Amino acid sequence: MSIKTATINGVCTIEIARPEKKNALTVAMYQAMANALISAHEDKAVRAVLITGQPGIFTSGNDIEDFMSRPPGQGSDSMDSPVFLFMRALLACEKPVVAAVTGAAIGIGTTMLLHCDFVYVSDEARLAMPFVALGLVPEFASSLVVPQLMGHRRAAEKLLLGDPFTGEQAVECGIANAVLPAGEVVNHARRVAERFNALPPGAVREAKQLIRGPQHEALLATIRTEGELFSKRLRSPEAMEAFQAFFQKRKPDFSKF
Ligand code: COA
Repeated sequence: MSIKTATINGVCTIEIARPEKKNALTVAMYQAMANALISAHEDKAVRAVLITGQPGIFTSGNDIEDFMSRPPGQGSDSMDSPVFLFMRALLACEKPVVAAVTGAAIGIGTTMLLHCDFVYVSDEARLAMPFVALGLVPEFASSLVVPQLMGHRRAAEKLLLGDPFTGEQAVECGIANAVLPAGEVVNHARRVAERFNALPPGAVREAKQLIRGPQHEALLATIRTEGELFSKRLRSPEAMEAFQAFFQKRKPDFSKF
Protein backbone atom coordinates (compact mmCIF):
# COMPACT_ATOMS: atom_id res chain seq x y z
CA MET A 1 0.00 0.00 0.00
CA SER A 2 1.44 3.37 -1.00
CA ILE A 3 -0.72 5.43 1.32
CA LYS A 4 0.11 5.26 5.02
CA THR A 5 -2.40 6.53 7.54
CA ALA A 6 -2.16 6.94 11.29
CA THR A 7 -4.09 8.90 13.89
CA ILE A 8 -1.90 10.20 16.70
CA ASN A 9 -2.75 12.93 19.19
CA GLY A 10 -5.92 14.01 17.38
CA VAL A 11 -4.28 14.28 13.95
CA CYS A 12 -5.02 11.84 11.13
CA THR A 13 -1.93 11.76 8.92
CA ILE A 14 -2.26 10.68 5.28
CA GLU A 15 1.23 10.03 3.96
CA ILE A 16 1.85 9.49 0.26
CA ALA A 17 4.61 6.88 0.11
CA ARG A 18 5.55 5.68 -3.35
CA PRO A 19 8.97 7.28 -3.68
CA GLU A 20 10.18 4.92 -6.44
CA LYS A 21 7.58 6.53 -8.75
CA LYS A 22 7.94 10.02 -7.26
CA ASN A 23 4.71 9.49 -5.31
CA ALA A 24 2.61 9.32 -8.51
CA LEU A 25 -0.99 8.67 -7.48
CA THR A 26 -2.75 5.53 -8.72
CA VAL A 27 -6.45 4.69 -8.66
CA ALA A 28 -5.88 2.54 -5.54
CA MET A 29 -4.05 5.40 -3.79
CA TYR A 30 -6.90 7.87 -4.47
CA GLN A 31 -9.34 5.33 -3.07
CA ALA A 32 -7.19 4.88 0.06
CA MET A 33 -6.95 8.65 0.55
CA ALA A 34 -10.71 9.06 0.05
CA ASN A 35 -11.38 6.33 2.65
CA ALA A 36 -8.96 7.94 5.11
CA LEU A 37 -10.60 11.36 4.72
CA ILE A 38 -14.10 9.91 5.15
CA SER A 39 -13.00 8.03 8.31
CA ALA A 40 -11.30 11.16 9.66
CA HIS A 41 -14.44 13.17 8.99
CA GLU A 42 -16.53 10.65 10.98
CA ASP A 43 -14.06 9.90 13.82
CA LYS A 44 -14.65 12.16 16.83
CA ALA A 45 -11.09 11.55 18.02
CA VAL A 46 -9.72 13.27 14.90
CA ARG A 47 -9.48 17.04 15.23
CA ALA A 48 -7.48 17.74 12.04
CA VAL A 49 -5.99 16.00 9.02
CA LEU A 50 -2.40 16.23 7.81
CA ILE A 51 -1.50 15.33 4.21
CA THR A 52 2.17 14.86 3.46
CA GLY A 53 4.65 13.13 1.13
CA GLN A 54 8.26 11.94 1.21
CA PRO A 55 11.48 13.94 1.56
CA GLY A 56 11.96 15.83 -1.72
CA ILE A 57 8.63 14.78 -3.24
CA PHE A 58 5.05 15.56 -2.28
CA THR A 59 3.55 13.96 -5.40
CA SER A 60 4.31 13.96 -9.12
CA GLY A 61 0.55 13.95 -9.71
CA ASN A 62 -1.66 11.37 -11.31
CA ASP A 63 0.14 8.20 -12.40
CA ILE A 64 0.54 8.76 -16.13
CA GLU A 65 0.34 5.05 -16.87
CA ASP A 66 -3.06 5.01 -15.13
CA PHE A 67 -4.07 8.03 -17.21
CA MET A 68 -3.38 5.91 -20.29
CA SER A 69 -4.70 2.54 -19.20
CA ARG A 70 -7.36 3.34 -16.56
CA PRO A 71 -8.71 6.85 -17.25
CA PRO A 72 -11.74 7.89 -15.18
CA GLY A 73 -15.06 7.14 -16.92
CA GLN A 74 -16.76 9.73 -19.06
CA GLY A 75 -19.89 11.77 -18.30
CA SER A 76 -21.60 11.02 -14.98
CA ASP A 77 -19.42 7.89 -14.51
CA SER A 78 -16.34 10.05 -14.04
CA MET A 79 -17.79 11.52 -10.83
CA ASP A 80 -17.65 8.08 -9.15
CA SER A 81 -14.02 7.39 -9.96
CA PRO A 82 -11.58 7.23 -7.01
CA VAL A 83 -9.90 10.53 -7.90
CA PHE A 84 -13.28 12.28 -7.73
CA LEU A 85 -14.16 10.45 -4.50
CA PHE A 86 -10.89 11.72 -3.00
CA MET A 87 -11.40 15.32 -4.09
CA ARG A 88 -15.06 15.29 -3.04
CA ALA A 89 -14.04 13.94 0.38
CA LEU A 90 -11.43 16.71 0.63
CA LEU A 91 -13.99 19.38 -0.20
CA ALA A 92 -16.53 17.83 2.19
CA CYS A 93 -14.12 17.35 5.10
CA GLU A 94 -15.48 19.41 7.99
CA LYS A 95 -12.20 19.16 9.90
CA PRO A 96 -9.23 21.40 9.14
CA VAL A 97 -6.86 19.91 6.56
CA VAL A 98 -3.18 20.86 6.72
CA ALA A 99 -0.75 20.03 3.89
CA ALA A 100 3.01 19.65 4.38
CA VAL A 101 4.47 19.94 0.87
CA THR A 102 7.76 18.09 1.24
CA GLY A 103 8.98 18.61 -2.34
CA ALA A 104 7.66 18.68 -5.90
CA ALA A 105 3.87 19.01 -6.11
CA ILE A 106 2.76 18.49 -9.70
CA GLY A 107 -0.70 18.44 -11.25
CA ILE A 108 -3.16 17.25 -8.65
CA GLY A 109 -0.31 17.67 -6.16
CA THR A 110 -0.90 21.41 -6.51
CA THR A 111 -4.64 21.40 -7.20
CA MET A 112 -5.38 19.47 -4.01
CA LEU A 113 -3.62 22.26 -2.06
CA LEU A 114 -6.26 24.73 -3.26
CA HIS A 115 -8.79 22.83 -1.12
CA CYS A 116 -6.67 22.43 2.03
CA ASP A 117 -7.03 24.95 4.86
CA PHE A 118 -3.33 25.36 5.64
CA VAL A 119 -0.41 24.75 3.28
CA TYR A 120 3.21 24.69 4.44
CA VAL A 121 5.85 24.28 1.75
CA SER A 122 9.43 23.06 1.96
CA ASP A 123 12.11 25.39 0.64
CA GLU A 124 12.90 22.62 -1.89
CA ALA A 125 9.34 22.44 -3.22
CA ARG A 126 8.43 23.14 -6.83
CA LEU A 127 4.77 23.39 -7.74
CA ALA A 128 3.28 23.09 -11.22
CA MET A 129 -0.02 22.55 -13.00
CA PRO A 130 1.18 21.37 -16.44
CA PHE A 131 -2.24 20.22 -17.66
CA VAL A 132 -2.20 22.00 -21.02
CA ALA A 133 1.29 20.72 -21.84
CA LEU A 134 -0.11 17.22 -21.30
CA GLY A 135 -2.99 17.85 -23.68
CA LEU A 136 -5.39 18.27 -20.74
CA VAL A 137 -7.34 21.09 -19.09
CA PRO A 138 -7.30 22.40 -15.49
CA GLU A 139 -9.09 20.21 -12.92
CA PHE A 140 -10.80 20.33 -9.56
CA ALA A 141 -11.84 23.97 -9.76
CA SER A 142 -8.32 25.25 -10.36
CA SER A 143 -9.71 27.23 -13.32
CA LEU A 144 -11.92 29.06 -10.80
CA VAL A 145 -9.71 29.28 -7.69
CA VAL A 146 -6.31 30.07 -9.24
CA PRO A 147 -7.46 33.27 -11.08
CA GLN A 148 -9.33 34.31 -7.92
CA LEU A 149 -6.18 33.93 -5.84
CA MET A 150 -3.68 35.64 -8.13
CA GLY A 151 -5.50 37.36 -11.00
CA HIS A 152 -5.87 36.34 -14.62
CA ARG A 153 -2.33 37.14 -15.79
CA ARG A 154 -0.45 35.12 -13.20
CA ALA A 155 -3.06 32.33 -13.45
CA ALA A 156 -2.40 32.15 -17.21
CA GLU A 157 1.33 31.58 -16.57
CA LYS A 158 0.53 28.68 -14.28
CA LEU A 159 -2.48 27.16 -16.04
CA LEU A 160 -1.80 27.81 -19.75
CA LEU A 161 2.01 27.71 -19.85
CA GLY A 162 2.26 25.37 -16.85
CA ASP A 163 5.21 27.34 -15.48
CA PRO A 164 6.61 25.77 -12.30
CA PHE A 165 6.88 27.99 -9.23
CA THR A 166 8.73 27.95 -5.92
CA GLY A 167 7.37 27.74 -2.40
CA GLU A 168 8.01 31.46 -1.94
CA GLN A 169 6.00 32.22 -5.06
CA ALA A 170 3.25 29.92 -3.76
CA VAL A 171 3.08 32.02 -0.58
CA GLU A 172 3.18 35.26 -2.55
CA CYS A 173 0.27 34.21 -4.77
CA GLY A 174 -1.85 32.88 -1.90
CA ILE A 175 -1.55 29.12 -2.43
CA ALA A 176 0.60 28.51 0.66
CA ASN A 177 0.88 29.94 4.18
CA ALA A 178 4.65 29.74 4.66
CA VAL A 179 7.92 28.25 3.45
CA LEU A 180 9.88 26.13 5.96
CA PRO A 181 13.29 24.45 5.78
CA ALA A 182 12.86 20.97 4.27
CA GLY A 183 13.66 19.24 7.58
CA GLU A 184 11.03 21.22 9.49
CA VAL A 185 8.01 21.41 7.23
CA VAL A 186 6.23 18.24 8.43
CA ASN A 187 6.74 18.99 12.13
CA HIS A 188 5.57 22.56 11.66
CA ALA A 189 2.44 21.42 9.81
CA ARG A 190 1.78 18.79 12.50
CA ARG A 191 2.06 21.40 15.27
CA VAL A 192 -0.51 23.56 13.45
CA ALA A 193 -2.84 20.54 13.10
CA GLU A 194 -2.39 19.68 16.81
CA ARG A 195 -3.53 23.17 17.82
CA PHE A 196 -7.07 22.02 16.98
CA ASN A 197 -6.95 19.67 20.00
CA ALA A 198 -7.28 22.78 22.18
CA LEU A 199 -10.04 24.44 20.15
CA PRO A 200 -13.80 23.72 20.35
CA PRO A 201 -14.58 21.30 17.48
CA GLY A 202 -18.14 22.55 16.88
CA ALA A 203 -17.00 26.15 16.43
CA VAL A 204 -14.12 25.03 14.19
CA ARG A 205 -16.52 23.02 12.02
CA GLU A 206 -19.01 25.85 11.64
CA ALA A 207 -16.30 28.46 11.02
CA LYS A 208 -14.77 26.27 8.30
CA GLN A 209 -18.20 25.91 6.68
CA LEU A 210 -18.63 29.68 6.76
CA ILE A 211 -15.20 30.29 5.22
CA ARG A 212 -15.74 27.79 2.41
CA GLY A 213 -19.54 27.92 2.19
CA PRO A 214 -20.41 30.73 -0.23
CA GLN A 215 -18.24 29.23 -2.94
CA HIS A 216 -19.18 25.57 -2.44
CA GLU A 217 -21.79 25.24 -5.19
CA ALA A 218 -19.64 27.15 -7.69
CA LEU A 219 -16.69 24.85 -6.90
CA LEU A 220 -18.76 21.72 -7.48
CA ALA A 221 -20.23 23.06 -10.72
CA THR A 222 -16.76 23.98 -12.02
CA ILE A 223 -15.38 20.58 -11.01
CA ARG A 224 -18.15 18.88 -13.02
CA THR A 225 -17.54 21.02 -16.12
CA GLU A 226 -13.76 20.60 -15.95
CA GLY A 227 -14.14 16.87 -15.24
CA GLU A 228 -16.14 16.23 -18.40
CA LEU A 229 -13.61 18.06 -20.56
CA PHE A 230 -10.67 16.45 -18.75
CA SER A 231 -12.03 12.92 -19.29
CA LYS A 232 -12.49 13.59 -22.99
CA ARG A 233 -9.03 15.11 -23.31
CA LEU A 234 -7.43 12.10 -21.58
CA ARG A 235 -8.49 10.10 -24.65
CA SER A 236 -7.29 12.73 -27.16
CA PRO A 237 -4.37 12.24 -29.58
CA GLU A 238 -2.69 15.32 -28.03
CA ALA A 239 -2.71 13.72 -24.58
CA MET A 240 -1.51 10.36 -25.96
CA GLU A 241 1.46 12.10 -27.58
CA ALA A 242 2.30 13.87 -24.28
CA PHE A 243 2.03 10.65 -22.21
CA GLN A 244 4.09 8.59 -24.64
CA ALA A 245 6.73 11.33 -24.77
CA PHE A 246 6.98 11.25 -20.96
CA PHE A 247 7.72 7.53 -20.86
CA GLN A 248 10.03 7.73 -23.87
CA LYS A 249 11.89 10.56 -22.08
CA ARG A 250 11.56 12.93 -25.04
CA LYS A 251 9.87 16.25 -25.77
CA PRO A 252 6.32 15.88 -27.10
CA ASP A 253 5.74 16.90 -30.72
CA PHE A 254 2.48 18.77 -31.18
CA SER A 255 3.39 20.09 -34.65
CA LYS A 256 1.05 17.62 -36.39
CA PHE A 257 -2.10 18.75 -34.53
N1 COA B 1 3.29 8.88 -13.42
C1 COA B 1 3.91 7.73 -13.60
N2 COA B 1 5.23 7.54 -13.35
C2 COA B 1 5.91 8.61 -12.90
C3 COA B 1 5.31 9.85 -12.68
C4 COA B 1 3.92 9.98 -12.95
N3 COA B 1 3.25 11.10 -12.74
N4 COA B 1 6.25 10.72 -12.22
C5 COA B 1 7.39 10.03 -12.16
N5 COA B 1 7.20 8.75 -12.57
C6 COA B 1 8.17 7.67 -12.65
C7 COA B 1 9.10 7.83 -13.84
O1 COA B 1 8.54 7.28 -15.00
C8 COA B 1 10.32 7.06 -13.35
O2 COA B 1 10.04 5.71 -13.48
P1 COA B 1 11.24 4.68 -13.92
O3 COA B 1 12.24 4.76 -12.79
O4 COA B 1 10.55 3.35 -14.01
O5 COA B 1 11.78 5.22 -15.23
C9 COA B 1 10.34 7.35 -11.84
O6 COA B 1 9.02 7.75 -11.49
C10 COA B 1 11.28 8.48 -11.46
O7 COA B 1 10.90 9.64 -12.18
P2 COA B 1 11.96 10.59 -12.95
O8 COA B 1 11.21 11.40 -13.97
O9 COA B 1 13.11 9.77 -13.43
O10 COA B 1 12.46 11.51 -11.71
P3 COA B 1 13.08 12.97 -11.79
O11 COA B 1 13.59 13.25 -10.40
O12 COA B 1 13.99 13.13 -12.96
O13 COA B 1 11.81 13.95 -12.04
C11 COA B 1 9.57 14.74 -11.71
C12 COA B 1 10.79 14.05 -11.08
C13 COA B 1 8.44 14.65 -10.70
C14 COA B 1 9.91 16.20 -12.04
C15 COA B 1 9.21 14.00 -13.03
O14 COA B 1 9.10 12.62 -12.74
C16 COA B 1 7.90 14.43 -13.66
O15 COA B 1 7.84 15.48 -14.30
N6 COA B 1 6.86 13.58 -13.52
C17 COA B 1 5.60 13.75 -14.23
C18 COA B 1 4.83 14.90 -13.69
C19 COA B 1 3.52 15.03 -14.41
O16 COA B 1 3.46 15.47 -15.55
N7 COA B 1 2.45 14.62 -13.70
C20 COA B 1 1.10 14.63 -14.22
C21 COA B 1 0.44 15.89 -13.88
S1 COA B 1 -1.23 15.97 -14.45
